[in-house]
Amino acid sequence: MTNLLLNFPCGCWIILTGFITCFAPLLKCIEAGRGENASSILFVILSQINDFHVKEAEKFRHHFNSQLDNLDKSSWPQVLSTHEHFLDIPGTWTIFPLIDQLVPLHTGWSWVFICEEDTRVDINALARLLQSKNASEHHFLGRELRDHETTIIHHFAFPDNPLQFAYPDFRAGIVLSISLVKHLHNRLNNEKLKIEFSIDPKHEFALFVWDEGRGTPLVGVKEFCSVDQSYSSDCITRQLFKFPDCNETIKEEDLFVAVKTCEKFHNTRIPIVKATWGKETKYIEYFSEIEDRSIPTTKLDVPNTERGENT
Ligand SMILES: *[C@@H]1O[C@H](CO)[C@@H](O)[C@H](O)[C@H]1NC(C)=O
Ligand SMILES: *[C@@H]1O[C@H](CO)[C@@H](O)[C@H](O)[C@H]1NC(C)=O
Ligand SMILES: *[C@@H]1O[C@H](CO)[C@@H](O)[C@H](O)[C@H]1NC(C)=O
Repeated sequence: MTNLLLNFPCGCWIILTGFITCFAPLLKCIEAGRGENASSILFVILSQINDFHVKEAEKFRHHFNSQLDNLDKSSWPQVLSTHEHFLDIPGTWTIFPLIDQLVPLHTGWSWVFICEEDTRVDINALARLLQSKNASEHHFLGRELRDHETTIIHHFAFPDNPLQFAYPDFRAGIVLSISLVKHLHNRLNNEKLKIEFSIDPKHEFALFVWDEGRGTPLVGVKEFCSVDQSYSSDCITRQLFKFPDCNETIKEEDLFVAVKTCEKFHNTRIPIVKATWGKETKYIEYFSEIEDRSIPTTKLDVPNTERGENT
């Protein structure tokens, strides 16, 4: 037998007699042999077209690609980033518009993994997790978040017990099975949905998927780690640093504050703004539907609505 050995991914050795022998880590080899196959997962990064975020997305790619050396080429998964592949689609950060985009792209993958730029994912570990699940069923996986109190940004949902509802931490990544993606796609196209604005997309998306109990609840995966757990070797996904890491405080002269008001409030609310935090800002401008020199306001040619959210 020749003693010429080639190093093979996952710690196996090919002995050039046609035998494949597994050495340490033996376990990984056996698992790989069970058909762990990352090509069944479509990866989507929620990225943004801006220098800082493009760099973050590149760092994601670098980490992602560095794992491909350990994968058989036929198992290489597809990776899309919203700033490159869905640049023309508004609102992909809310996930809803992405669902429509993903269905026509369905080519062989059974799962979609969606995460943020500074999420780090262990591709093999994720493939192992999903291997035990059936993508023909509806699955919605992620790191669970729950409200301890009702909150305005969730429209005071579940006032009797806000803890009952779990929604995902996008930064830890979420997984949707293809069958769930297709189901959501149908609902989005058949139901008259009123999604006019978004405040906290992870909550809004989870509510939609849950569908008042008729749909799919989020199932928590403890290996989708928070930033504080990310040191653990059990993590399938990790988060790099606490966000927001705003670093240095910005200078007063670099901050511009735009206040949106309307005639109705010129004499009631604006004096209060001016007497309180308005005083603290160097650059502040008031926008209204009419010009009022006493404030002064800048006239916007945008009609007002009687009611709205936080305006
Ligand atoms: C992974 O799955 C793809 C598509 O099902 C298949 O073509 C490929 O051979 C598989 N790779 C491995 C290593 O099993
Ligand atoms: C996967 O789920 C589908 C739909 O419920 C079912 O028909 C199929 O038998 C399941 N496959 C396995 C391997 O359990
Ligand atoms: C914070 O600012 C310092 C100095 O400008 C820089 O060296 C460091 O990398 C910054 N940290 C982050 C997380 O951006």
